[in-house]
Amino acid sequence: MNEQKTIFITGTSSGLGKLTAKYFAENGWNVAATMRTPEKETELTAYDNIRIFKLDVTNTEQVRTAVEQAIDIFGKIDVVVNNAGMGTYGALELAKEEDIDWQFAVNARGPINVIRAFLPHFREYGGGMFINISSFMGITTAVPLGSLYNMSKFALEGLIEGLYYELKPLNIELRLIEQGGSKGNSFRESIVWNTHPEITAYDELTSKLRAIMANADESQLDDPMEIVNVIHSLATRETNQFRNVIGATGNQLMQMRHSMPIEEYMEAMRSYF
Ligand SMILES: NC(=O)c1ccc[n+]([C@@H]2O[C@H](COP(=O)([O-])OP(=O)(O)OC[C@H]3O[C@@H](n4cnc5c(N)ncnc54)[C@H](OP(=O)(O)O)[C@@H]3O)[C@@H](O)[C@H]2O)c1
Repeated sequence: MNEQKTIFITGTSSGLGKLTAKYFAENGWNVAATMRTPEKETELTAYDNIRIFKLDVTNTEQVRTAVEQAIDIFGKIDVVVNNAGMGTYGALELAKEEDIDWQFAVNARGPINVIRAFLPHFREYGGGMFINISSFMGITTAVPLGSLYNMSKFALEGLIEGLYYELKPLNIELRLIEQGGSKGNSFRESIVWNTHPEITAYDELTSKLRAIMANADESQLDDPMEIVNVIHSLATRETNQFRNVIGATGNQLMQMRHSMPIEEYMEAMRSYF
């Protein structure tokens, strides 16, 4: 009997998703690696136990097809990682309507699409696990002009915590990873910035935030392998923590957030800007 386990991951074209796909493949798992543009992939194609599927998490038809194809090939999927995500930053007033919708569509509606596509399969096999990549921006606020990203990750947190009650009786587990900034990904480069040529009211704050992000010292960013190791220990059930805060920034912010009233916390955050 084939005991090899299978993991299905979204957003494996770069960063954490790609690293997770490689690590699990190198540790004996089958990997269904999904991405928007498989035709561009050159690295994951080198692994015999990785199969690549086209999947934009906002496209329910594509999600359904990729999930069906992965199940056809691997038979059973044990763990699903909702990793795909992006950030829209800048003043809400300046945001384009489509960028507001897209932020929600990718970071919150995307995991809903993937989870709904997998639930029949997990029910059929009597269980499964969804590991969801959130952010410290999903459990606390920290920077100005990040409200849309906060909104999307807070929504993800509410979704996953809320689902606990309906999926626990079906032996379907849910986990959250609260990562801070980590090294070696495309997140900062792919941020969509809200701007407007005639509205200058937010310019000062925007410039400060952009400078902080641009000058962020790589040494302050977390090692993504730390996150991959936590994903692995959750997938193999070595640990079973529901919310996993990873890295110095996230832990420091959570400690602050819980040690003082919210008003004090928000003023402390604002004082950096
Ligand atoms: N890096 C950070 O500072 C940070 C901090 C906290 C949380 N996170 C979260 O960590 C997760 C992984 O991000 P990362 O740090 O590894 O950054 P990344 O390198 O930018 O990876 C994001 C991945 O998501 C994919 N993606 C974006 N939109 C998609 C869509 N509509 N459908 C399918 N895939 C899509 C991207 O694919 P394309 O190549 O097609 O764009 C890319 O593979 C995200 O959920 C992010 O929100 C990141």
